Amino acid sequence: MQMQLDGGNLVFDVTGKGTPMLFIHGYPLSRKIWDPQLASLSKVAQAITIDLRGHGDSSPFLGAYSMELLANDCKRVLEFLKIKSPVVFCGLSMGGYISLALYRSDPLLFKGLVLVSTRAAADSAEGKANRDKSILNARQNGAAAIADAMSPRLFAPGTLQDQPELVEKVHHIILAASVNGIVGSLQGMRDRPDSSQILDRISCPTLVVHGMEDQLIPVKEAETMSSRIQNSQLIKVERAGHLLNMEQPQIFNTALVEFIESLG
Ligand code: MLT
Repeated sequence: MQMQLDGGNLVFDVTGKGTPMLFIHGYPLSRKIWDPQLASLSKVAQAITIDLRGHGDSSPFLGAYSMELLANDCKRVLEFLKIKSPVVFCGLSMGGYISLALYRSDPLLFKGLVLVSTRAAADSAEGKANRDKSILNARQNGAAAIADAMSPRLFAPGTLQDQPELVEKVHHIILAASVNGIVGSLQGMRDRPDSSQILDRISCPTLVVHGMEDQLIPVKEAETMSSRIQNSQLIKVERAGHLLNMEQPQIFNTALVEFIESLG
């Protein structure tokens, strides 16, 4: 499906029946990263998987993508689908930053929250400088250079060795991102505010899931978030990196189904 927005299109899929659940992918990926979840969830959740602006099949909108702008896009998709009941939001990495931005503005939209491979803190000075280098790299060399630099860092070493077809699939997903999407997201992530102060205010049931071998975001960040969110549960997944939902889908799917069922 697709909807028009700000002179472009946002593309998304809706599958399954049950609790509405919006899946928000990380940078610079697409809704395809959630493929390994869809069959397992189809009896308990109505899964809405979206391609954020500039990513996957959505239009290559120009400009900086603040986390608030992307959160508002997600809200507009729910409005388009006329979903009125509270929703479970599942955000991976940048998708987690977006989920926290959405919680800040619209806490009542949340029936539950799943934070995957993400953090609440803002970028460090070094992190911001790295964003600027990546922006230059993307502008000069395109999505292929970003795919080459990122692909090996998205997985645990064991996944890189044992699942080359998965690494290849993700490489292709990154190649589908537009340069506008890559640059816009990097600018938005670089400038995002620290969300740590809202952790104490999150009252919906929350599941925090993190790969023990995440090369991009240390597991310590997940421990910090979970210790501050009152109604939260932390699951650390062994032999998994940043894309743990693709690397260890059975463990992730079981945790998700149990979480959704626990919401009643
Ligand atoms: C992501 O997976 O969304 C990004 O790696 C997050 C980040 O760069 O901070």
